[in-house]
Amino acid sequence: MCANYSQLTVRPKGADLKGIKYLAINRAKIVGTGSYLPQNVLLNKDLAELVDTSDDWIFSRTGIRERRTVTDGEALSDLAVNASKNALEMAGISADELDAIIVGTCTPDLPIPSSGCLIQDKLGAKRAFAFDIAAGCTGFIYSLSVAEGFVKSNNFGYILVIGAEVLSKVINWEDRGTCILFADGAGAVVLKKDQEEIGILSTHLHSNGSYWDLLYQPGGGSSKPACRQSIDDGSHYLKMEGNRLFKIAVKALEEVALEAIRHNNITINDLDLWIPHQANIRIIEAVAQRLAFPMEKVFANIHKYGNTSAASIPIALDEANREGRIKKGDLVLLDAFGAGLTWGSVLIRW
Ligand code: ACO
Repeated sequence: MCANYSQLTVRPKGADLKGIKYLAINRAKIVGTGSYLPQNVLLNKDLAELVDTSDDWIFSRTGIRERRTVTDGEALSDLAVNASKNALEMAGISADELDAIIVGTCTPDLPIPSSGCLIQDKLGAKRAFAFDIAAGCTGFIYSLSVAEGFVKSNNFGYILVIGAEVLSKVINWEDRGTCILFADGAGAVVLKKDQEEIGILSTHLHSNGSYWDLLYQPGGGSSKPACRQSIDDGSHYLKMEGNRLFKIAVKALEEVALEAIRHNNITINDLDLWIPHQANIRIIEAVAQRLAFPMEKVFANIHKYGNTSAASIPIALDEANREGRIKKGDLVLLDAFGAGLTWGSVLIRW
């Protein structure tokens, strides 16, 4: 159920940074962040024209005011390429310096091949190998964790890690339980191997497949391939039990935050910024309350973008970085929860 890739966090020799001691070992350091949101803005009042809902209900139950959706002809790889170019520019490298591209997504351009390969081609990242990871809203955390493992164990210079989704194409726009939540966007980071004491300190990943049917897309896969009947019965749309997911999400996000804190021998007060998956502001507030963590140290942008699944954390990370909310040396916790069920965390010394 649990994979812990943090065994390389070495103590107790080395520098003391806010109570944490680490040896100078190979570390994966984020040297560039980027994001891209499609131009089309969908307001709550626009949704109230499609389904029986209201701006008040959506904002008070989710914290969402508006979200972005792709325009016709715009695909996941287009969003991801724009986000990646921003991250590469900040990192000061060109695409042909990349060794690998890992994409967290559950809404790829095509079932075959991976979006990673399409993005590699569009970026001109000729040297990189590329693949996708499907872990629902935890897709970026899973991808970052796998990339960190590559950086530490292989002789890779730079890895591009992307979280991107086009959920507007798998939503039933007549289902008020899902269409008010989900949206489109992309975020990316460039990871570099470094021997400084900053970078990714730990990653923790979890899954519990027995809850697979709390959030899933019944049709379009090999168990129910696309056919006339699957189209007619709407099998290609997301199905979600939001209420049950809500309760499990609060518990899982709290537990995985505490796991990262205990593993690194710090306290919750040592965290400078918490960037949780942007699923619902009430989930974020409930977890912050249970952890006795001040909301001033939480980064939330769900009001602007809704739930962009695997894209939500890299978009928020890029915004926080560009707004100057993260300073060198800060301890930043990322954690997410999503379909699978999956959940996990990444703790970073910035
Ligand atoms: N507008 C108005 N009323 C609504 C709407 C709507 N959009 N949606 C539901 N309602 C109604 C329900 O029918 C119900 O009415 P009833 O009391 O007459 O039966 C009432 O509102 C309450 O419904 P709940 O489902 O209990 O509402 P809740 O407060 O739980 O909010 C929501 C629903 C927003 C979906 C919430 O449960 C949620 O955010 N869940 C978590 C979603 C999530 O985290 N997904 C996982 C990650 S995503 C990923 O992995 C891709």
